[in-house]
Amino acid sequence: MKKFLAISVAALALCAFIAVGSMAAEEKTMKASGEKEFNEHCAVCHPAGGNIIDSAKTLKKKDLDANGIKTSADIVKLIRNPKAGMTKFGKKTISDKNAKAIAGYIMTTFK
Ligand code: HEC
Repeated sequence: MKKFLAISVAALALCAFIAVGSMAAEEKTMKASGEKEFNEHCAVCHPAGGNIIDSAKTLKKKDLDANGIKTSADIVKLIRNPKAGMTKFGKKTISDKNAKAIAGYIMTTFK
């Protein structure tokens, strides 16, 4: 019985280890695709997280905070339904998954 318990614990630990490992890998690919999609669709107007049209509305945390953009979901909303001067991106151009990846990339990259 003791041996069985030890094996179960070891198996559980191994599962947890594998799960964490693949989660980290997925996070990495999300970040890579977010960067790629950002460079493709957004960087023309937001080079290095700036804003060539309205310098008070960069993608840096200070401006996002000041403009009420607090979460990745807020960024996804803006991608789908932007304000004046920004291109509107539908699901055909940027899938939901890629929109989330871009939002995550912005939140973690431009400080
Ligand atoms: C044609 C130029 C253009 C492109 C392309 C563009 N944007 Fe924008 N973006 C703007 C402008 C202009 C604003 C300011 C709009 C306003 O008045 O709130 C803006 C604002 C934003 C804001 C809010 C910033 C703030 O501090 O209020 C976010 C977030 C944002 N854009 C993300 C994106 C993302 C993500 C993409 C690519 C999917 C993108 N933009 C593509 C021009 C652009």
